[in-house]
Amino acid sequence: MVTVSGGCKNKRVCEHFTAMVSFKHWTQFCYRNDFFFMIALKNVFFTRQDGGLKRHIINDLSLNILPSEQIALLGDSGSGKTTLLNLLAGLLSPDAGTIRVNEQNISTLNANQLAIYRRKIGVIFQHYQLLSPLNVKDNMCFQARLNGLSPSEEEIQKMSRKLGLEGKLNAMPEQLSGGEQQRVGIGRALLNKPTLLLADEPTGNLDAARAHDIVTLLKNLCEEQQIILIMVTHSQRLADQFTTQLVLKDGQING
Ligand SMILES: Nc1ncnc2c1ncn2[C@@H]1O[C@H](COP(=O)(O)OP(=O)(O)OP(=O)(O)O)[C@@H](O)[C@H]1O
Ligand SMILES: [Mg+2]
Repeated sequence: MVTVSGGCKNKRVCEHFTAMVSFKHWTQFCYRNDFFFMIALKNVFFTRQDGGLKRHIINDLSLNILPSEQIALLGDSGSGKTTLLNLLAGLLSPDAGTIRVNEQNISTLNANQLAIYRRKIGVIFQHYQLLSPLNVKDNMCFQARLNGLSPSEEEIQKMSRKLGLEGKLNAMPEQLSGGEQQRVGIGRALLNKPTLLLADEPTGNLDAARAHDIVTLLKNLCEEQQIILIMVTHSQRLADQFTTQLVLKDGQING
């Protein structure tokens, strides 16, 4: 974990810890002491040319994220949400500033180190992106196997029970509903044992009731496995399931 000097001046971070543990003087403790952050973004810029002009898609963004924190990321279309997830996933590099994850400045990693880093990042997509020739079980194991892990039969059964997919392991993706396909996507990300799970509008294709259930499941599983969850959504109702909500506006945190 990373120690960020200067103590915890961040009200949001303190609120998160206050919610997580019942410790009488926790808030005062936060303010007095240096803190451990799992992820620390400092003065991050991501800049691209737009019509001949430079545009800061991510604009001097600083953010500290704690172990096991769960964040709903809101913001208008084009505000930079997917770009921020891609920076955290190591798929893009900032033009200025630092992104430190678990004591590593990910901008300075070489290709091999970056590949190792990316193995620990789980990604859940809006359009599921299951592999159509593979059944549910093989789709669920795909990411883990790619990264050299071999989930045991017991792990697969346990995960499929949690996801309500125990009777579907031999089914093909086209035989599943949208909600079931997304649960396979969650299983695929979690069997890979990530430390950080990035979900970009994971419920964008689902109706309100299914979306609510998927987000509840995602949050419970991440909490159980102590995985940081950052979920992009356009739905305030879904964001209200999270204690931490961040709003991006023009590449900056707005709330
Ligand atoms: N490689 C690039 N070159 C130029 N502009 C880019 C590039 N990548 C993203 N952008 C621009 O950056 C802005 C932010 O894009 P991003 O995909 O992060 O938005 P978003 O908040 O995820 O939007 P949405 O809610 O629609 O998914 C957009 O205006 C997009 O056109
Ligand atoms: Mg997006």
